[in-house]
Amino acid sequence: MKSGGKIVILGAGHVGSHCGMALAWRGICQEVVLVDKNEKKAAAQAMDISDALTFPPSAAVVRQGSYSDCADADIVVIAIGEPRLPGQTRLDLLESSARMLRELTETLKPIGIGGVVVTITNPADIAAYYVRRELDLPRERVFGTGTLLDTARLVKTISEKSGVFRGAISAFSMGEHGDSSMIPFSQVRIGALPLDSYPGLDKEYILERTRMTGMDIINGKDSTEFGIGQALTALCASILGDERQVFPLSVLLEGEYGQRDVNCGVPCVVGRNGIESIVELPLTSEEQAQLDASCDIIRRHIEKACN
Ligand code: 2OP
Repeated sequence: MKSGGKIVILGAGHVGSHCGMALAWRGICQEVVLVDKNEKKAAAQAMDISDALTFPPSAAVVRQGSYSDCADADIVVIAIGEPRLPGQTRLDLLESSARMLRELTETLKPIGIGGVVVTITNPADIAAYYVRRELDLPRERVFGTGTLLDTARLVKTISEKSGVFRGAISAFSMGEHGDSSMIPFSQVRIGALPLDSYPGLDKEYILERTRMTGMDIINGKDSTEFGIGQALTALCASILGDERQVFPLSVLLEGEYGQRDVNCGVPCVVGRNGIESIVELPLTSEEQAQLDASCDIIRRHIEKACN
């Protein structure tokens, strides 16, 4: 992992500040800049994170900044939005997020962003679609974290149930970062063996845990933040260090998986240019139908909010 680069986080709420902390703590970049309409809060979060860096071996500078910081940033992270409340789906945030993203993209357009833009704001796939379209940048450079966090939850669940180390499990959650996400179980490998080699693993349970863990966390503490912080850090490390890791991200599809003009979570090779390529898994017809159904839901909401 190389160290270097400037990462700007737009939105210094729970998610934005925890992402800032995770990025700074891991020492993957030189500078973390927090930008928020509430300047006092952004400055306070930056000071608090900076204090913490006295202890680990990280020399990152963490500071409050302004939107113009996005121009020369290697990565701009969009983490604005209202928090999801207990009982709300991510799609319930569509109206408020669309309003906030409209205002934000109007501010960002004249700045001329030179790096990669990663969106976290929910509903993730619709937000990623809208931001890319409004900033008029290539899909490789503007995408959402999508089902990356769902995939972390998926791998965790399989690991707990199989007793195999998380790092030895290859599995992806795909489609919407939301209630219609799907898992191509035919592609899961546990220590190189297919899922069915482990007779105790219940697919329904694994799917339910993958989809519902976010809501369980929100029910308990009103927000999720640690998981997304580490997911984003792994993603940014792969970009800055040109690591070519494979992560499921919400990217605009242009024919891949039989889909067009819609963002959804699919595995991508991630390097210095952002998305270097999209990995097309050989889905079964049942899995393809599940992915198509998820894309239909995202597309309906894109039409509702983005036109
Ligand atoms: C999560 O899944 C809330 O989308 C966020 O943790």
